[in-house]
Formats: sequence, C-alpha cells, structure tokens
Amino acid sequence: MKRFIPHCMKIMLMVLFIFLLIACEKAEPTESESSPEPSLELEEEGAESGPIHIGFSMDTLEEERWLKDRELFKKEVEELGAKIDIMVANEDVAKQIAQVETLIHNGVDVLVIVPYNTEPAAAIVEKAHLAGIKVISYDRLIKNANVDLYVSFDNEMVGELQAKAITSLVPTGKYVYIGGAITDNNANLIKKGVFKVLQPYIQNGDITVVYDQWTEDWNPDNAYKNMLAALEANHNEIDAVIAANDSTAEGAIRALREKGLAGKIPVAGQDADLTAVQRIVQGEQAMTVYKPISSLAKETADLALKLADGETIKTNRKINNGKIEVPSILLSPIEVNKDNIDDTIIADGFHSREDVYGE
Ligand code: GAL
Repeated sequence: MKRFIPHCMKIMLMVLFIFLLIACEKAEPTESESSPEPSLELEEEGAESGPIHIGFSMDTLEEERWLKDRELFKKEVEELGAKIDIMVANEDVAKQIAQVETLIHNGVDVLVIVPYNTEPAAAIVEKAHLAGIKVISYDRLIKNANVDLYVSFDNEMVGELQAKAITSLVPTGKYVYIGGAITDNNANLIKKGVFKVLQPYIQNGDITVVYDQWTEDWNPDNAYKNMLAALEANHNEIDAVIAANDSTAEGAIRALREKGLAGKIPVAGQDADLTAVQRIVQGEQAMTVYKPISSLAKETADLALKLADGETIKTNRKINNGKIEVPSILLSPIEVNKDNIDDTIIADGFHSREDVYGE
C-alpha cells in the first residue's frame, strides 16, 4: 500500500495533517476567549458603538464550577446581544492585572472580575475606573476598592448550612476544619458561617475543633496533607470534618481512606461537584452546598448590560469591603445530601441522573 502513494500525494496528506493539527489546537480551552461579532441586525441596534462589550477576568478553571461559570455567563451575555472577552489568570496576581489591562485596551464597556487574590485586585478596579469602566465583583468580593457591584451567593450561609448539617449528625466530638484559600474573601465568610453555628457547641464543651487550617489555592493536595496532619496529631480520633469546598473535601477524604475511615466520619463540602455528589451517593461524603450557577450568571449578565447602559443599580443589600458599602446581590445556596439530590441538582439539570447514579 505505502509503496504506491505518489510523492505529491504525500505532500498533500502532510498539508492536510498540519491543517487538522492547527484546527484541533483551536479547540483547546485557552486562557482567553472572545465571542464572534454579533450578527448585522444587532449591529444596527448599537450601530454607533457596536454591541456592548463585556470583559470577564477569571481566576482559575481548576474547580469544576468555574467551567460552568465561564460557559453559562458567556451564553447569557451573548443571548443579550452583547459580546464577551474571557481571560483566565491561573492563580497569578500579576497575570490577572496584565490581562485586565488587555481587556481595557480592547475597549470593554464593563469588567466582571473573579479575583484570584482579593486584596491586590483593588489595583484592577482603579485601572478600570481611570478608563471609565465599571467593575462587578463576581462570586468573590474585591476588598478595599470602589467596586460598583458585588454579585454572589451568601457565603456565610454556605458555612452555616455545612455546620448545621454536620452538627445534626455529630453533636459532640472532635472536629477538623479544612478552610479555603486565605487569599479568597469567600473562605473567610464561609468560615465565619461555620463557627457562628459551632460556637455554642464549643462553648458548652460538646465540640472541640482540634485542627483548623487554610488550604493554599483551594488545592486538594494541600487539603490532603492538612487532613493527614490532623489525623496524625489526634491519633486518628476525629469525629467530623468540615471542608470549605468539594475539592478540599476530596483531599480530606483521600487521607481518611488511607486510614480506613472514609464513610465512617461525616465530611461536609461545597459546590456540588459531580465527584462529590457521587461520594454522597456512595456514603463517603455527608453533604455539599449547591449554588445554582445559572442564576448567578444570568443575574450578572443582566446587571452588566445595565451598568454598560449607564443605569444605576439599586440593590437591597450593601456589603462593606473595607473601603465602601458595596451594592450587593447575594443568592441563596442550597444544602444537598443523599435525600434531596434528585429534587435539587438533578431537577435543575446541574448534573444528569446518569452521571450521578451511573444508571
Ligand atoms: C470560592 C467559590 C467556591 C470554590 C472556591 C474555589 O470563591 O465560592 O465555589 O469553588 O472559590 O475556587
């Protein structure tokens, strides 16, 4: 067969092969993504300045939820006839600031930011305002800056739901707290909610928190190491674990498995990652906190376009970020355990029945 392919045919096949390679390259999730120019009739609408242009600066795509945020927010923005530029900083402060400079240079009308680090991100807000661009803090609050709007879930309530679920299963005993990333204001809020519920139990001596550590970059491997340290320091005598999200819960459960304790010690998580919901079905994780990302994406897209149109947004809440009372919208999180997976996550199509139960 090979012997009979004429020379020119080989060259054509080579060209075809290279062409396919480039096309596949295009398919890879990149650090930046932008939507195609909206069709002509949309053009007419904002003929003089073209469609509204949103810049979405994300921290990471490491956790499953952020892939959903990217996809759903892009869909909502484009369905409203606007265009979007998305950039992902991969947990790098300098890169996020540089990417935002690029988005400003690209002429975005509004910036939507998921800050990697809540403090240095203040510089981003300043740069945007100097360019006359409004800033929405998405899911995570930027501290000490004149943020125009904050849209998220009630993260303190996330912690309260976690602690209420675990204290109902383990009202007395030794607790381990696996916190989130200290660079993320949400980690502080979640912890505040957890300890608000635990305090009375701690006060009357029923519960002792024998280990309490932040997890750098929310990284499951760091959570795994922390959990191992907690087990070793307490001779494996632990009664409950509250982990700030499902990826840190995954790390903690990996350590429990090594000690033959997985499924014996209730573990709380957050984000309703598919693997976490599967662990709940298998009995290795007690609960997670589901946050309907589609509502967050829709709400933020609507508000971003209103801000771009120069509208003033009235909100029923204000959150102090250390500098100002930021107009805020906080959506309600939902507790999920083995009894309500169907009525929540599956009913919403967040995960399919096949994926969760493997049916
Ligand atoms: C938090 C977010 C959580 C979690 C975490 C890790 O800010 O609210 O859903 O996933 O980041 O990225």
